Order: sequence, then structure tokens, then C-alpha cells
Amino acid sequence: MRYLTFALAKGRLAKKTLALFEQMGIACEEAKDPNTRKLIFTNEEHKIRFFLSKASDVPTYVEYGAADVGVVGKDTIMEEGRNLYEVMDLGFGKCTMCVCGPESARELLSKNEIIRVASKYPNIAKNYFNEKKNQTVEIIKLNGSVELAPIVDLSEVIVDIVETGSTLRENGLTVLEEICPLSARVVVNQVSLKMEHERIRKILNQLNEIINQE
Ligand code: PRP
Repeated sequence: MRYLTFALAKGRLAKKTLALFEQMGIACEEAKDPNTRKLIFTNEEHKIRFFLSKASDVPTYVEYGAADVGVVGKDTIMEEGRNLYEVMDLGFGKCTMCVCGPESARELLSKNEIIRVASKYPNIAKNYFNEKKNQTVEIIKLNGSVELAPIVDLSEVIVDIVETGSTLRENGLTVLEEICPLSARVVVNQVSLKMEHERIRKILNQLNEIINQE
């Protein structure tokens, strides 16, 4: 039997996903070592392999079939726009994609002015303003600490993830518009879903049962 390969977004999502698999009786002892630098973990009994990658690369591995299945945030799925099937909402890692800024930026949004939008998610930002709001904006791509942008006058607003809201509060910013809710999702390669349908369906059913118990 070939290995069924899972790509996990490293960090909290991967930890939580590996814990769920352990509850299903699919454990990887090596993955529990907090000091490990290994990127691939195998469960020989179930012929399952997990690898940890940067979140934004998970949809790439899945689209090309290097991984059959991926676990990654909805934000990354939307931003990357890859060809894959999103088959399940795992219900954890919940947060919201929002337009944020100082309260004073609210009227710029309503007046349809040309504004600058800083984001780690240029495609989501562009799509939201162009398609949903019909507002022409200049998108400025950043790689982190996006809340800085309106404070130092790089942009009028940002498009970013809000979880607890404390980063915004501590920097004098607020949610101006909500774009969409986010959470961890399971994505599947389009060929794998056909070729490995039974194995994948069984695992998804088990995952579903555990999540509903929690
Ligand atoms: C994320 C996000 C916000 C923050 C939101 O950043 O981009 O900055 O978390 O969380 P909160 O609402 O609970 O404060 P992350 O920690 O991933 O760091 P980064 O901005 O450097 O990417």
C-alpha cells in the first residue's frame, strides 16, 4: 500500500492536527519531541506520512499531488487560489479576515476614495475591494506586523487576520469591515480524492467524530 501523505501548516495547526490523529490511534512518536527539527513523520502501521511546511506552501504541495491531503487555514487557501478540493472545516483556529485601521479611516472606505491597503494577503485584499466593493485601491504587500502600516502612514487601512483583537487594541486600531470568517480546513488533491477515496473518506469520518466530541 502506498503512503497517504498529509501536508500540515507548521505551528499550532500542525500540533492540533497531530493531536487529533493521535486520538484516532494514528500516532507519530517522533513528532512529540519538542526539539525535533525533522519535517517528515511516518506511521508505518497505517501507511500515513505527515510533513510540515510553511502554511502558504501547503496548497502548492496538495495541488501538485506531493501531498494527498493538506491542513491549512482558510486565509491561505483563499490567498493561494490553487486547484484543490476543500472538504472539511475542522472548526479550530477560528478568526476573521478584516479591514482594519484607525477610526478616522472609516469615512475613506464609505466615500470610495482611492486608498492604500497594506496586507500579507494581497489577493484577498484586491478581490475584496475590486469585486465586492468596486473600490479602486493600491495594494501594498507586507510580510508581517501589518498593523504598523497605518501607524507610520504607509497605508490608510490594512487587511489582516483578527483573532482576539488585542494587536489592534494595543496599537490604536479597530475593525472597520469584516471580510469573512476563517478556520482550519482540510484540502485534498483532485486526483487523490478519486484514487484514494476510501482511505481519505475513512479518515475524514474519524476526524469528524473526534471534532464533534470535543
Ligand atoms: C497575526 C495577525 C495579527 C494577529 C492577530 O499575526 O496578522 O497581527 O495575529 O491576532 P490578535 O487579534 O489575537 O491580536 P502573527 O502573530 O501571525 O504575526 P505577523 O503579523 O508577524 O505575521
